[in-house]
Amino acid sequence: MSGRDSEKLQAVKGMQDLLPPDSAKWGYVEKRARATFESYGYREVRTPIVEYTPLFVRSIGETTDVVEKEMYTFTDRDERSITLRPEGTASAVRALLEHSLPAKEPVTRWYYSGPMFRHERAQRGRYRQFYQMGVETFGIAEPTIDAEQIAMLVGLFGDLGITGLDTRINSVGGPEDRPKYRAALAAYLEPFRSQLCADCQRRLDTNPLRVLDCKHENDQKIVKGAPSILDHLGEAAKAHFAGVQAALDALGVAYTIDPKMVRGLDYYTGTTFEVRASGGDLGAQNTLGGGGRYDRLVQEMGGPATPATGFAFGLERVVLTLPGEADTFEPGAEVFFASHGDAAKLYCLKQVQNLRARGFRADLEHRNVGMKAQLKRADRVGARVVVIVGEQEMAANQAVLRDMKASEQRTIEAADLVAEIKRLVR
Ligand code: HAM
Repeated sequence: MSGRDSEKLQAVKGMQDLLPPDSAKWGYVEKRARATFESYGYREVRTPIVEYTPLFVRSIGETTDVVEKEMYTFTDRDERSITLRPEGTASAVRALLEHSLPAKEPVTRWYYSGPMFRHERAQRGRYRQFYQMGVETFGIAEPTIDAEQIAMLVGLFGDLGITGLDTRINSVGGPEDRPKYRAALAAYLEPFRSQLCADCQRRLDTNPLRVLDCKHENDQKIVKGAPSILDHLGEAAKAHFAGVQAALDALGVAYTIDPKMVRGLDYYTGTTFEVRASGGDLGAQNTLGGGGRYDRLVQEMGGPATPATGFAFGLERVVLTLPGEADTFEPGAEVFFASHGDAAKLYCLKQVQNLRARGFRADLEHRNVGMKAQLKRADRVGARVVVIVGEQEMAANQAVLRDMKASEQRTIEAADLVAEIKRLVR
């Protein structure tokens, strides 16, 4: 082994294992999100975790932090530049076009779930491998869909029991509005150039909009006085944004207009939104999810003009905000079998299979340990009912049924086992 190989084994920095019982909390969020998305007519899409690098460079934007600093890019054995996906929208657009969906259906509604990769500074709520669940709609230009997506995300978080949500909306205008705003913003920032962080001094020349979401405190102070993008919207963008607000009002979704919220990806046109958690201990990483409209991207990637809108939320952040201890999300066993003697064990093995086939969560002690240890384990797995079978019960065709909740036990006929268990756990 080389020196490096002999180092203590550990996961890659910024990436984490997900173990029980936390995985149960994750599973719960995923299940609820899928059910919500499907109730709105979204269908699942799965794309590869890697794409050819230019896809992300072209869609997310060459001068965004994601592309400039955060991508996991490498050359594969075919000498092609490959990147671990930093987000899901670019891949969705690629798949949409590769499978000619705009020609096949007027409206496409997709949802996805999976790991994303960004080489960011790791901290609580920010990881280098993180999980997103997201949705994308293609083919709908009307503002009601923007509002419906916001309502769906806020509704999902509410259903999960997350309180203190802060929903921010903005419009970054269409490509026809952007140059005017860009010029006004650059003119405002120019006198502060030397006070801006090194990155923002560069951004001032390459992509001044990105200065608005700089994390540095001093830059944020400067940005406070910057002109508002909402004062630079053309008629079409203004009308669309008013439509989004009217639909949100109709749906009863509370929101704040935040003209400085531009989000970190370049493909947005028009509506942008974020849902933040005001409570909890996420600190600066309190944005649970965000998205917006990207009406130009499909065309820019070589497809037909296709309006689009979507969002994604981060599973880690949602799970960190979700109330409830992780182990309360684990289903636990309903029935646990404890046995004494080889014949009894084989009998229990068969009964457990039989119960599982009937939809019960059933288990038995496989290890050859004493009755006390077996009962302790039944308690640990949270069993509602314990079935005890020893030589005596085997001989009499009986079993001892212990109701763990009532702390009572009685002897029953083996033939009544399933019915008795059903009575107690269902
Ligand atoms: P995003 O704002 O870059 O948007 O990411 C969405 C969410 O993913 C964030 O609000 C956050 O919860 C989570 N997230 C992002 N980076 C990290 C990280 N390093 N660690 C943990 N969680 C993270 C998008 O990715 C867009 N594709 C959303 C979208 C879909 N827009 C239109 N369609």
